[in-house]
Amino acid sequence: MGQIVDLLITNAAQVCVLPAQNNGPQRGSFLGALGLIENAAVAITDGKIVRVGPSSELAQTYQAAETLDAQGRAIIPGLVDPHTHLVWAGDRAAEFEMRLAGATYMEIMAAGGGINNTVSKTRAATVDEIVAETRPRLERMLRLGTTTVEIKTGYGLNIETEIKLLEAIYRLQDECDFVDITPTFLGAHAIPPEYKDRADAYVSALVDHMIPAVAEYATTNHRVMPFIDVFCEAGVFDVAQTRRILEAGQAAGMPLKIHSDEFEALGGTALAVEMGAVSADHLISTPAADIAALGHGSTVAVSLPATPFGLAHEHYSPAKQIIDAGGALALATDCNPGTAWCESMQFVIALACRSMQITPSQALAAATINAAFALGMGDRVGSLEAGKQADLVILDTADWRHIAYRFGGNLARTVIKHGRVVWTS
Ligand code: NIG
Ligand code: FE
Repeated sequence: MGQIVDLLITNAAQVCVLPAQNNGPQRGSFLGALGLIENAAVAITDGKIVRVGPSSELAQTYQAAETLDAQGRAIIPGLVDPHTHLVWAGDRAAEFEMRLAGATYMEIMAAGGGINNTVSKTRAATVDEIVAETRPRLERMLRLGTTTVEIKTGYGLNIETEIKLLEAIYRLQDECDFVDITPTFLGAHAIPPEYKDRADAYVSALVDHMIPAVAEYATTNHRVMPFIDVFCEAGVFDVAQTRRILEAGQAAGMPLKIHSDEFEALGGTALAVEMGAVSADHLISTPAADIAALGHGSTVAVSLPATPFGLAHEHYSPAKQIIDAGGALALATDCNPGTAWCESMQFVIALACRSMQITPSQALAAATINAAFALGMGDRVGSLEAGKQADLVILDTADWRHIAYRFGGNLARTVIKHGRVVWTS
């Protein structure tokens, strides 16, 4: 009689393991290592992967309390979305029309719209309303195969509303056991209207009041400390202001993230690497020296191709250069009501291959194991290695490459979180 496991998934045409590289993200020529096993099975106990291997072998080794027949389909790790702005109220469909009529994103923002448009709607909403608007987004993401997601605050821009957004994020985690949620404090998302033309005063408010209040809120409520993030961009926060904010966050115990080079290159990416940020995100106008820095440092490079797509811009991240420099490339949706209301990591994978000429296997690694490292969770999620959380997607195809080859639909057939079926089509 074999070893007893909780669940044995049998008869998978393929399982893509997506192994970590030396306990870190996949870099350079290693990016895209699938660890592909054909005619495979997955043994799971206590919500964790026990083993992935040939079906015939696992059938002999393990006795399962429950068996799930994958019926010749392909299995990938649960998708990890390491950059979203998911907690907001209302929408900005009218600004989308304005952009199509010729206004630019930064022009709309400078005129008081953009992020501050969503800020006024979000300030007016209750925490219950925000949770109720966000939960269906998380449920749709789950049905699209996303089992780990980062959520930023950033539509409050005052202590009261930023804490309200953080409370919404923690409540969503309590209510939604089908997803792991990583919180990020993005009080430095824009200059709020009451600080118009007084950016330095807002930075002081962040450093002296908001960051300590957020850290205390997380600590007294026994919650995971959020990341801190800054929108480092011309007309928003410059590099000196970004440094001040990140240093204050770091001093309060928050790991670092940055929005850099989305439109203009200010030097935010090099700053992120220098400060040991966990990730630097957007990276569109990134100069060669900052790409080289990403190749040497530990900071994960998160590309968000749904954003230029959503803005109908032609420039995307220099992904190939980042990979060639030895950088750790990850992908995320950037889901937000302004530039990219995109809930699908599957669409992002398909778009990344076409817009940045990366291969399907590189895109899949960027959306799983490397995305997990962009959240500091590479030891728990993002791959199907023994000991990791049993978060996986059974695809509606026998060939995993269809996830990049096809687009606009949903190839997730069954989603498993912590070894439990949480959604099936
Ligand atoms: O990542 N760049 C800043 N933040 C978002 C947009 C947020 C919004 O427009 O509401 C982004 O693209
Ligand atoms: Fe963003």
